[in-house]
Amino acid sequence: MGICLVTGVAGFIGSHLAERLVREGYMVIGVDAFTPFYAREIKQRNLAGLLRENRFRLIEGDLNCLNLKELMRDLSIEYVFHLAAQPGVRTSWGDRFEEYLWHNVRATQRLLEAAKELPLKKFIYASSSSIYGDSERLPISEESLPRPISPYGVTKLAGEHLCLLYERGYGVPAIVLRYFTVYGPRQRPDMAFYRFIRAALEGKEIPIYGDGEQTRDFTFVDDAVEGTLRGAWLGEPGQVFNIGGGAPVRLNSVLQELEEMLGIPIRVRYRKTETGDVLHTFADIRRAQRQLGYIPQVSLREGLARQVEWFLKEHRRIIGS
Ligand code: NAD
Ligand code: UGA
Repeated sequence: MGICLVTGVAGFIGSHLAERLVREGYMVIGVDAFTPFYAREIKQRNLAGLLRENRFRLIEGDLNCLNLKELMRDLSIEYVFHLAAQPGVRTSWGDRFEEYLWHNVRATQRLLEAAKELPLKKFIYASSSSIYGDSERLPISEESLPRPISPYGVTKLAGEHLCLLYERGYGVPAIVLRYFTVYGPRQRPDMAFYRFIRAALEGKEIPIYGDGEQTRDFTFVDDAVEGTLRGAWLGEPGQVFNIGGGAPVRLNSVLQELEEMLGIPIRVRYRKTETGDVLHTFADIRRAQRQLGYIPQVSLREGLARQVEWFLKEHRRIIGS
């Protein structure tokens, strides 16, 4: 079928993507540095199923240090899915910006330098809705002027530009996918749904940044993975696609939904808005629909229920709550 390199394979989206690629019949080489942004144990657990597969191999290492040219050439890599990054919008200020530069900009440039020597079929870059900032017009189309309002968004946009430069300059068959707040089983512990579910089950207060009236075009992880595969199969090099859930939701509605689902009252404390947080995201996904046949399938209610189920059945044991 083909040989894929998935960077950030031990992470939330990367582990789901690699599982799907193996199911589709691909050989997957996964790279991950196990950065300390969240517990290694969680990332190892994300890989548990993959490590039992013959068509999966893990290479532990930092993209900034590995000999990527040799690695990709020797393993005959045909598709690169570049998901490794330092994520997190609100943590990207101050001294931590160094990490964002290192993992999001420098690592991307190194990977592209290696990729330019090889006859790849596709190079997929996982970008983010955060590159848009507070857009004046909603839904946000790919043609909107990117104006990130967080340092994280700036580094993700720099990564995009690097991919498009190497596409134009060296013919690296790169495409850019802008994911919109992805959720579901294995979601990162710093993200909203994870924190809401955990706090609710532990009877703790949930901190809401702002008045809870902000909206997000939440995307279930299986939909994001489907969009990513479709990008690899059908995306023309140099193209950019929004990969969103298709229906923006207010944070307060999510809390209400969760309260009904769990059947327990949720305590909320409203705090000041976090600097760098976008107020509304709403993806115009018509380009992905037209060119990739991408149509999100999972409603918020169903996706949230699946994340709660995962948390209760699998995850709670690992974190010991
Ligand atoms: P994650 O933190 O769960 O996964 C990223 C993985 O990359 C981690 O396991 C980390 O150890 C690894 N990594 C980081 N730097 C590395 C390096 N230099 N070398 C090797 N491995 C490295 O994050 P995620 O939520 O799965 O996000 C995956 C990608 O999708 C990221 O590029 C992120 O910017 C993008 N994205 C995520 C969302 C979302 O809602 N989760 C939304 C938009 C975009
Ligand atoms: C998410 C990811 O964390 C980024 O990596 C990604 O690039 C981005 O989506 C994207 O789509 O581009 P974010 O939208 O901030 O960023 O996702 P969440 O962490 O799930 O937060 C959603 C909303 O809930 C935000 O408004 C946030 O301020 C709020 N929130 C989060 C709270 O009110 N309380 C919390 O405890 C956590």
